[in-house]
Amino acid sequence: MIRINENYTKLKASYLFSDIAKRVSAYTQANPSKPVIRLGIGDVTEPLPSVCIEAMQAGTAEMASRTTFKGYGPEQGYAFLREAIAQHDYAARGCRIDADEIFVSDGSKCDCGNIQEIFATDGLKLAIPDPVYPVYVDTNVMAGRTGANINGRYEGVTYLESTPANGYVPSIPDHATDLIYLCFPNNPTGAVATRSQLAAWVAYARENKALLLFDSAYEAYIRNPAIPHSIYEIEGAREVAIEFRSFSKTAGFTGTRCAYTVVPKSLMAFDRSGQAHSVHALWNRRHTTKFNGVSYPVQRAAAAIFTDAGKKQVSEMTSFYLANAALIRSAMGKLGFGCVGGDNAPYIWINTGRDSWEFFDLLLNQAQVVCTPGAGFGKCGEGHVRISAFNSRENVERALERIAQALR
Ligand code: MLT
Repeated sequence: MIRINENYTKLKASYLFSDIAKRVSAYTQANPSKPVIRLGIGDVTEPLPSVCIEAMQAGTAEMASRTTFKGYGPEQGYAFLREAIAQHDYAARGCRIDADEIFVSDGSKCDCGNIQEIFATDGLKLAIPDPVYPVYVDTNVMAGRTGANINGRYEGVTYLESTPANGYVPSIPDHATDLIYLCFPNNPTGAVATRSQLAAWVAYARENKALLLFDSAYEAYIRNPAIPHSIYEIEGAREVAIEFRSFSKTAGFTGTRCAYTVVPKSLMAFDRSGQAHSVHALWNRRHTTKFNGVSYPVQRAAAAIFTDAGKKQVSEMTSFYLANAALIRSAMGKLGFGCVGGDNAPYIWINTGRDSWEFFDLLLNQAQVVCTPGAGFGKCGEGHVRISAFNSRENVERALERIAQALR
C-alpha cells in the first residue's frame, strides 16, 4: 500500500498565494466587467533591464553555433556570474565571500525551502518569525520538524513575533534555538534590521552553535545607508550564517528565474556526537545531486546587472517601485491606518485593526484591488494586510483612488 508523508496533513489545505489566486479568479469570473488590480503577490511588472535582454540574446545566439553551444553547465553556476556576485555584492561591501561559496539557483523560494533538508529532522529547535514568508514554516512542517497546528501555531517552533510594540523587528529568544530564519528587508512587513540588531543575532547564533538562514531577497530596495545589505557585513557571520539572494525583485527575474545562496566554507554544523561537518560540502552534495544549473542565457542576463549600465538600470527599476511604495504608504496613512515598510522595501504593512481576510474581501469586492491578508503570514499578521508596490504607476494610482472611495 502506497502511503503518504503524513506531515503534509498538518499543512493548511493550500499555499497562501494559490489560495488568493483562486479567490481572485472566482471574483473575476463572476464579475468579468470589473478588472482587478493586483497588489497581492510580489510579482514584478516592469520589463527586464535592457542590459539583461541584450546579454540574454547574446547568450541565446551562442547556443546557435556548435563552437559556442553549451550543454550542462556547472551545477553551482558559471564562474563569470559567481565571480561578478562575489566582487559586486560582497567585496564591494567589505564582505569576504569567495566565488566558490556562491551557489546559483533558479530561485530563493526553492533554496529557502530546500536548505532544511541538510539539517536534522529530530530534536532541532526552530525559530521562525511571525508574520513570515510561508515557505520557511511549511517546508519544516513537510519535513516533520513540527508537531500539530494548534490555534494557528505549530508545536515545536519558537515564533519570533513582529508586532507594532517591537516595531515589527522580533527580539532574540530567551532560550537556545538551532535553526533560525531571518528576513530583512522583511517580507511581509518591509521592516529593516540595524547593524546592532543583526550583530546581536550573530552573537546569539555563535553562543548557541546555531545557524542563521538570512533571506535578503529585497536588499536592493535598501536606501538607508546605515542598514546592512548582507549578514556578512557583521563580524563573525561567516561561521553562523547562510544568505539567500535573488535577481527576481532586484532586476525583474520572477519569470526568468535566477537567484543564489551563499554558504561560507567556514560554516560548520554538527552530528549527534558533536563532530563538526562542513555545511558547504553538504549543500554542494545536495545541490549537485538534485539540480542541474540555471540556463546559460539567463546567467548571462543576470551577470549583466553588475555592469555600470546594469547597476544604473537596476537602481532605476527599484526606485520606480519604491516611488509606488511611497504613494501607497502615504495614501493609506491619510486614510488613518498605521503603516510600516515601503521605504527600504517594496511592501507596505498596514495595520487595519480588522480581520485581515475580511479586509482583503472588502478591497477585492468594493475596490477590485488585491492585497495579501496578514493572517496568511502567521498569527501576528492578523489585523494587517500587505500591499505590494509591484505594478505600473497608473495601476497603483488607480488602485489607491478606488481604495479611498471604497473606505469612505
Ligand atoms: C511574495 O509575494 O511574498 C513573494 O512574491 C513570494 C515569492 O517571492 O515567492
